[in-house]
Amino acid sequence: DWTMGDYKNSSIKAIREKVGDGKVLLALSGGVDSSVAAALLAEAVGNQLTCVFVDHGLMRKNEGDEVEAAFSKWDINLIRMNEEDAFLGALKGLTDPEDKRKAIGAQFIRTFEKMGKQIGEQIGKIDYLAQGTIYPDVIESGKDDAAVIKSHHNVGGLPDFVDFKEIIEPLRMLFKDEVRQLGFELGLSEQLVMRQPFPGPGLGIRITGEITKEKCDILREADAIFREEIANAGLDKEINQYFAVLTNTRTVGVMGDSRTYDYALALRGVTTSDFMTADWARIPYEVLDKASSRIVNEVVGVNRIVYDITSKPPATIEWE
Ligand code: XMP
Repeated sequence: DWTMGDYKNSSIKAIREKVGDGKVLLALSGGVDSSVAAALLAEAVGNQLTCVFVDHGLMRKNEGDEVEAAFSKWDINLIRMNEEDAFLGALKGLTDPEDKRKAIGAQFIRTFEKMGKQIGEQIGKIDYLAQGTIYPDVIESGKDDAAVIKSHHNVGGLPDFVDFKEIIEPLRMLFKDEVRQLGFELGLSEQLVMRQPFPGPGLGIRITGEITKEKCDILREADAIFREEIANAGLDKEINQYFAVLTNTRTVGVMGDSRTYDYALALRGVTTSDFMTADWARIPYEVLDKASSRIVNEVVGVNRIVYDITSKPPATIEWE
């Protein structure tokens, strides 16, 4: 019988044969696919692997630390680039959703160039680029590697500093549930392996209007509370994606004896099988109530919570 353990072992063997004593680079996003690919490569080639994690300042609460902790058991080179100032600088003054997405994409390219220099200095020449492309990505994007890379990264094309022989895609034959199984087989935590999707532009597409550090911090806190309450209610496996969105609308409220004028925050939860269409999740009122009271009490800057009850279509899952 074929098991995921067999798949793991044969993949490790194949990677070792291919890579030899070469060096491999992988961009770690913190998502399931790149994390499982990184763990597999770490098992196979250890410190010949360099993973780069770009913290663009639009990550969820504690995300960077969690990624770093998850890989601390392997002897790999993990480079964490703190690019918050660069990304927030690039976003300054922008309010249009497409302008913001473009600014994030352009900053990713500049950050990758900077990363190239850093890797050149610290690691030397890279022989292989690895990525966590999974089977559904391959089908979606056609067979052309360049197309896969283009459509599944938030930047256009390959970073030109990488003088690599080949792209290694060890998850290319696997469906999502198999990738998760492999992740467990490699000893990654349930928290990482069962993680909901998180978009490349991060909180940048969950803050309407201008993006500032203050707004990112407000959203991070509120989102963490919502996710915690969903998990406490045991709904984290039923609801496929759930998160908070910080609107650019401030509304009047009352706290104690004084009037407040703070942001309205939206909660979003969807059930879906393919993320192409989605239904809004029927989260029990008690769970919404708990999350709402906690957020307005614990997060300064938010005084009103709404729940998004639109499906996709006509709405999208994200707000921008
Ligand atoms: P929408 O909002 O289009 O989202 O209904 C569908 C799914 O795609 C994710 N998403 C993205 N993922 N880069 C990503 O890596 C992006 O720019 C991006 N935009 C949306 C979204 O989170 C949802 O799972």
